[in-house]
Amino acid sequence: MELKEVIETRRSIRKFKTDPVPEAYIDELLEAARLAPSGGNIQPWRFVVIKSPEARAQLSELTLEFVATAPVVIACCTDMSALKAQAARYKELRDSGAFEGVTMNLSRALPKSSQEMGEEQIRGYLHQNTAIAVEHMILRAVDLGLGCCWVMMFDRAELAARLGLPEHIRPFCLVPIGYPDQKPQPRPRKARAELVIKEI
Ligand SMILES: Cc1cc2nc3c(=O)[nH]c(=O)nc-3n(C[C@H](O)[C@H](O)[C@H](O)COP(=O)(O)O)c2cc1C
Repeated sequence: MELKEVIETRRSIRKFKTDPVPEAYIDELLEAARLAPSGGNIQPWRFVVIKSPEARAQLSELTLEFVATAPVVIACCTDMSALKAQAARYKELRDSGAFEGVTMNLSRALPKSSQEMGEEQIRGYLHQNTAIAVEHMILRAVDLGLGCCWVMMFDRAELAARLGLPEHIRPFCLVPIGYPDQKPQPRPRKARAELVIKEI
């Protein structure tokens, strides 16, 4: 599918067929997430792939009912300790030639180093990166004929406990994935004129 078609036809899907999602497709989704961009290339996204009927049944107690009806649910998480490797990631990036011929004038710059950021700002920054990986995954799912939904409504603490996640790995969102069993019309959107504040 052309990217434009993927973007235009994607819908949040909340009804799934019971057909399983091929393993190769799950790999494709994780690969799409892996290739997402991130600030300083820190790549803080982490995933738990939930497929077994037992694990999905447990999930149904912690989130919206439809989520556990999907044959696969990916719990998208953020590694809250990712900034510890910020300097290493940055060096790796520089060594790869990412900034060749580009003046990186850090004195003017703009993204604050993590030492200057408050806890809340760090959390927002890290999750922002995970969100990009999630959207990559969702668009690739549509490309493969799958449907999914970005779900923020769930009990994070309980999910982390049941998945046995270490303290620094925080659940960010759930993405139930399967073959769509509905064909929703486009959902309402604001007019473009409402979005562009001004052109200067
Ligand atoms: C950050 C985010 C959080 C969302 N959380 C939920 C959710 O918890 N439950 C749900 O059913 N849909 C959720 N959605 C889906 C939105 O309701 C949906 O994207 C919106 O209504 C527009 O519909 P569309 O995705 O079909 O275009 C979420 C979407 C985003 C991007």
